[in-house]
Amino acid sequence: ELAEAQAAFDAIIEADQRIEPRDWMPDAYRKTLIRQISQHAHSEIIGMQPEGNWISRAPSLKRKAILMAKVQDEAGHGLYLYSAAQTLGISRDEMTEQLITSRARYSSIFNYPTPTWADMGAIGWLVDGAAICNQVPLCRASYGPYGRAMVRICKEESFHQRQGFEILLELSNGTPEQHQMAQDAVNRWYWPSLMMFGPPDDESPNSAQSMAWKIKRFSNDELRQRFVGMLVPQAEVLGLTLPDPNLRWNEETKSWDMSEIDWTEFNEVLAGRGPANAQRIQHRRDAHEDGAWVREAAAAYAEKQAARARA
Ligand code: 3HC
Repeated sequence: ELAEAQAAFDAIIEADQRIEPRDWMPDAYRKTLIRQISQHAHSEIIGMQPEGNWISRAPSLKRKAILMAKVQDEAGHGLYLYSAAQTLGISRDEMTEQLITSRARYSSIFNYPTPTWADMGAIGWLVDGAAICNQVPLCRASYGPYGRAMVRICKEESFHQRQGFEILLELSNGTPEQHQMAQDAVNRWYWPSLMMFGPPDDESPNSAQSMAWKIKRFSNDELRQRFVGMLVPQAEVLGLTLPDPNLRWNEETKSWDMSEIDWTEFNEVLAGRGPANAQRIQHRRDAHEDGAWVREAAAAYAEKQAARARA
């Protein structure tokens, strides 16, 4: 019985087809998907905070409207991803509880502060740019609900990345102070955006299995390389420099030589000791508590509706 189910699962993965919620799947496949998809959803929701910080201070109505739309998109991405995770048997309440009690991971990148408006450009260009590199392959993830959620998310991410690029281009071509503000933001966000792709391949405990199950299609380092390759020409158009003096194309290895990434910083942020970890979680906890009355009202209304339908 079990051997047949395993064989059927293996055949679907082998044939590059989709595993759907009602299909049998190994417990470890379910577990790693709940892990990755819930962390991805948490990242989207926490990711609303660094940018939300500038909605009331955007330099023009146009920029305010664009930023509001982007932050709203992130909330929607969180919704799609929590819903995808729920098809694997974990509840929304459980995932929320894990996040607000600091037991859940979310992307390291959102634990950094956003001190200037130029950060909105650097986040759009670098963080959403990295997210696109990482998420386009996820559109082909073997788990159906996850891959399908990614298709819509990737379409919206490209708008996020372009608006960030445009903010930086405007600042870079502005006054010397504006140019410097853009360069400072790129200097602060460049290395943390490379860390979004995860630890080096030889220190990535989940990669081998995730690639065997066709959840992860490319390794952490492969996607990091692809991202840097995307940034170099765009930085030239922006008239900004990437803060790595050792960055150069290596014709022999056909890859980018770069300075060593500061993995101590990465591990510190993952351990909850980043610049803004505590603030991000506290804000999310407060929002959950402040929103309790809305959930209660919605539940009471749904109960009344159900009672009326039964009457
Ligand atoms: N931040 C936090 N934790 C990270 C991390 C990061 N940047 N990179 C790796 N980790 C964690 C992993 O979760 C894993 O811990 P766990 O086993 O407890 O979950 C550990 O470090 C080892 O890393 P692995 O490479 O073995 O883990 P994965 O195979 O899961 O690869 C990943 C990590 C590439 C981030 C993968 O999980 C992934 O592709 N996730 C989905 C995409 C995602 O979450 N992107 C970041 C969100 S940013 C975003 O989308 C918002 C955008 O709209 C602005």
